[in-house]
Amino acid sequence: VTGDAPAAFLWGAATSAHQVEGAPGRSDWTEWEAAGRLPHRDSAATGAGHWHRMEEDLGWIEALGLSAYRFSVDWARIEPEPGRIDGAALERYAWLAAACRARGIEPVVTLHHFASPLWFARAGGFGRATNAEIFARFAGRVAARLGRDVRIWITFNEPNVLVAAGYIAGRFPPGLKSLRRGIVATRVVQAAHRRAVGAVRRHAGREPLIGIALQMLEVAPERARNPLERALAALLDTFMNDTWPRDLARDRAEPVLDFIGVNYYTRARLRLSPLAPVLGGETMALLMQAEEGLRSDLRWPVWPEGLERALARAARHGLPLLVTENGIADSADALRPDFLRAHLAAIARARQAGADVRGYFHWSLLDNWEWLEGYEARFGLLEVDRATLARRPRASAFLYRDIIARHRRGPPDPALLARERG
Ligand code: FCB
Repeated sequence: VTGDAPAAFLWGAATSAHQVEGAPGRSDWTEWEAAGRLPHRDSAATGAGHWHRMEEDLGWIEALGLSAYRFSVDWARIEPEPGRIDGAALERYAWLAAACRARGIEPVVTLHHFASPLWFARAGGFGRATNAEIFARFAGRVAARLGRDVRIWITFNEPNVLVAAGYIAGRFPPGLKSLRRGIVATRVVQAAHRRAVGAVRRHAGREPLIGIALQMLEVAPERARNPLERALAALLDTFMNDTWPRDLARDRAEPVLDFIGVNYYTRARLRLSPLAPVLGGETMALLMQAEEGLRSDLRWPVWPEGLERALARAARHGLPLLVTENGIADSADALRPDFLRAHLAAIARARQAGADVRGYFHWSLLDNWEWLEGYEARFGLLEVDRATLARRPRASAFLYRDIIARHRRGPPDPALLARERG
């Protein structure tokens, strides 16, 4: 399916700390949950119990023949108070990174995957310019400890969603609905990324490769004939897909992006309903649900061509690409096998057309706690029993294993993402 996938292609799966570990650190998200702000009643306190099952989960990763594992570190757990590092927590992640390395699995570490420590959020979070340095300091501490085993780093998971959902749409903490605050947060997160890149390079001890994982989502107007809807959809589409890599790839003297991570799921429509507030609704809604056609348990349309298009679009910035997330909520595992094949085929086509895609990370390794959907959304290659937390591979896990076995040749190549500089 992946055509001429190179020997070094990373075959991976992804998770994020807050969603799988259980008992996450005190963060803006645990606070948001406690305040009843989530649209569901599920608590991330259980997750998938990954914190105490890392060894078992690594066993599964090995059994599936994956050559890479993308996980995130929980900033709130590592730095529970400003400047105080919880050594035991940091050691646990260091163990995980070393254990991946020892098994020939490339660890890919995300430093920020949506949750920030509560103390950081209370100090203004990414709404305040001076806070960029606080994130960079944390990044440096993690890099200093994990840098021996980790060479691929992602500063921010979906900074575009972090800003759009948290500062403009009010759906994620801090729950702001302000375009102006969104613009400020964009600048602060970009500054935090730049500074974190510097900190990781200074502390990692080997030449790291650093990127962001962007959620690429095409946004179309619900009614193509409505000029305002069309204009706003185009604006949001640009913000989601082009703004971040364009802004960050612009730094040429001291590059701050070694690769672009692409998270891809589906497509969206934007609908304007100027009178909706009268009925308690939103003026502007981003709709991902489809009424018909192939769609996930969350009713997100299945659209593999969209991945090919996203990769072609990301490739314009002239950097290597990683598909850092792609998957489907499908508890019955009815659609996932074809979903997987079709999206890998889309990557092969994008590669043939010149996009330099170096890896694929399925979302997710495990059924987990979803931000807006709780435990209902089941994205795992491994099914997790909610009562016992026992793992059981779904059929698509075996399918993925077989695809990898056919295409994987040897361990990851150290020159994998090496950038032709100059
Ligand atoms: C992405 C997030 C990830 C997960 C998937 C379904 O937007 O990065 O944490 O929630 O969606």
